[in-house]
Amino acid sequence: MNAVYSWTEIIAIVLLFNVCFSTSYRRTETQVCALCGGSVNNTAVDLFCSSSAGRIKGRCCLKNNSISDPERIIGLDLSNCSLTHVDNLQGVSTVVMIDFSLNPIVNISDTVFEGFGDLNFMILPPHVACPGGNTSWEKVELKDGKRLCEGQKNMCNQTGHLSVNCPENSLCAPYGPGFSECSCAESFYGYKCLRQGDFPALVVFGPLAASTVVMSLLLWVTQRRKAKNQ
Ligand SMILES: *[C@@H]1O[C@H](CO)[C@@H](O)[C@H](O)[C@H]1NC(C)=O
Ligand SMILES: *[C@@H]1O[C@H](CO)[C@@H](O)[C@H](O)[C@H]1NC(C)=O
Ligand SMILES: *[C@@H]1O[C@H](CO)[C@@H](O)[C@H](O)[C@H]1NC(C)=O
Ligand SMILES: *[C@@H]1O[C@H](CO)[C@@H](O)[C@H](O)[C@H]1NC(C)=O
Ligand SMILES: *[C@@H]1O[C@H](CO)[C@@H](O)[C@H](O)[C@H]1NC(C)=O
Ligand SMILES: *[C@@H]1O[C@H](CO)[C@@H](O)[C@H](O)[C@H]1NC(C)=O
Repeated sequence: MNAVYSWTEIIAIVLLFNVCFSTSYRRTETQVCALCGGSVNNTAVDLFCSSSAGRIKGRCCLKNNSISDPERIIGLDLSNCSLTHVDNLQGVSTVVMIDFSLNPIVNISDTVFEGFGDLNFMILPPHVACPGGNTSWEKVELKDGKRLCEGQKNMCNQTGHLSVNCPENSLCAPYGPGFSECSCAESFYGYKCLRQGDFPALVVFGPLAASTVVMSLLLWVTQRRKAKNQ
């Protein structure tokens, strides 16, 4: 028996390595679903989840829009979790509904929800303000000792606000309560959306392909040498 792998085996091993490397990141983002115990049963997030055809996992509601898409977190129920502060919700920016009620939270910084463009319903302890303030929401109310923030307002089109100045070739888009971003119009990209044409896939994905080839070559050469020495 010699230890020489075929080219295809080596490329498969390196690709597998690359895939493992990139999915280890995705695993950390679901840690928030296991932030505290207890089940999500008959809560507001649970009802929202079943009405959106999602599935409950720990304290999260997960859903994939299409089969090729990875699952996204659309609901997060961290009520009664003994949370004292919320400062990092990385990997949860796709969430639509959040419940932070029944926690000893004092205040939450607006910047925690920067990029949360889909966020549309929040349940908070009564003394915690809705992120971005009342003007960032269609409706803010106190109900059953909880603060409800409903309907994220689009900051791109606010009367009494200066219209957001986006550079030419770009459009203003919601980017979380109180935030907006300028995203490039179709067929434009780059700094201030000044470049036109197709997205340069070679420049972005080229290095990944190159590293795969180089690592495959290295593995192949070392395996060959090992085999020769036997
Ligand atoms: C959820 O709660 C209902 C009663 O409120 C109970 O009948 C049901 O078994 C619970 N389901 C789970 C999965 O705990
Ligand atoms: C959701 O995506 C996973 C893979 O990420 C897949 O296994 C599953 O079948 C998908 N579910 C639906 C309902 O499309
Ligand atoms: C909150 O959690 C505690 C302990 O986990 C439990 O005893 C209590 O009933 C919960 N309160 C609510 C309103 O669910
Ligand atoms: C939260 O409250 C504390 C004390 O009241 C204050 O020092 C801190 O700046 C506040 N943080 C935010 C994000 O408002
Ligand atoms: C926001 O709205 C709530 C509920 O209507 C109200 O109690 C609160 O005083 C408002 N906050 C500000 C800063 O206007
Ligand atoms: C923007 O605001 C104007 C005036 O308030 C309104 O007529 C228009 O429908 C709004 N557009 C969007 C996309 O909200």
